[in-house]
Amino acid sequence: MGAFYEEKVLDVKHWNGDLFTFRTTRDQTFRFRNGEFTMIGLRVEGKPLLRAYSMACANYDDTLEFFSIKVQNGPLTSRLQHIQDGDTILVGKKATGTLVIDNLKPGKHLYLLSTGTGLAPFLSIIRDPETYEAYEKVVLVHGVRQVNDLAYNEWLTSELPRDEFLGDLVRDKLVYYPTVTREQYRNMGRITDLMTSGKLYSDIGLPHLSRDDDRIMMCGSPAMLADVKALLLGLGWEEGNHGEPGDFVLEKAFVEK
Ligand code: A2P
Repeated sequence: MGAFYEEKVLDVKHWNGDLFTFRTTRDQTFRFRNGEFTMIGLRVEGKPLLRAYSMACANYDDTLEFFSIKVQNGPLTSRLQHIQDGDTILVGKKATGTLVIDNLKPGKHLYLLSTGTGLAPFLSIIRDPETYEAYEKVVLVHGVRQVNDLAYNEWLTSELPRDEFLGDLVRDKLVYYPTVTREQYRNMGRITDLMTSGKLYSDIGLPHLSRDDDRIMMCGSPAMLADVKALLLGLGWEEGNHGEPGDFVLEKAFVEK
C-alpha cells in the first residue's frame, strides 16, 4: 500500500530550457477533482523527494499529465527534468486544492488567471465539460516573460478547439489570452495592468470586471496572486475556500522546486 503510487513515465516534452511536460501511467484507483494537486516526485537515495504538482490532465483521462519548471539547483526539478520514458515517478494518493469550481459562487464569466506553470490546474479545468455548463464564457489568461514560455499555446489555439468531444464547447466558450512581458507579442503586459487599464476586457470583448457576473481563479507567482487579490478585495470581492464558496480562489504555483 503506502502513500504513493509508482507510475511509469510515458513521454516527456521540453518546451524550452525552463519548462517541460510529462505524462505517466495512472492507477485506476487515483481520484481527483479537476484543478487539484497532489505530491509527486522521485525516490532519491531511497527516500521520497516530493513537491506539489497540479494535474494538467482531466480527471477522466487514462493517463496523468504534469507541467513543470526546471530549477537548475532545485532539489527535485534538477533531477526530474532528466526523466525519460519508462522511468518511475511517485504520485501521492491524495489530491487536494482550492481551485475547483465548487469553491466559487455561480457566475457568468470564469476568469482563469495564470503565470508560468500556474497554467497547469487550468489545463485540467478547461478540459472539464462541467466548467462550460457552469459558465457562459471561460477566459484563460497566461502571463509569461517570453514568447517561448507560452507552453501549450499551439494546443490551445489549434488542437483543443478541434477536439472530438470538447471542440464545440471550447469554440463557443473558451477565450485564450496569452500575454508576454519581456518581448514583443500581440498581447503584452502584466495581468494586473491589463485588468486595471481595462485592456484585457476590451481585447476580448467582455464587460469590465463585475462581482455580480464574474468569478476568478488564479494560480502563479506569489507576487501576481498578492496583487490581484488586493485588487479584488479592494472591490469588495470575497475569497472562497473549502467550506464557503466565494467570488475568487487562488493557489500558489510552487516555484522553488
Ligand atoms: P514581469 O516580466 O513584468 O516580471 P515569473 O517568471 O517571474 O514567475 O513571471 C511570470 C510572469 O508573471 C511574467 O510575465 C511577470 O512579469 C509576471 N508577474 C510577475 N509579478 C507580477 C505581479 N505582481 N503581477 C502581475 N504579473 C506579474
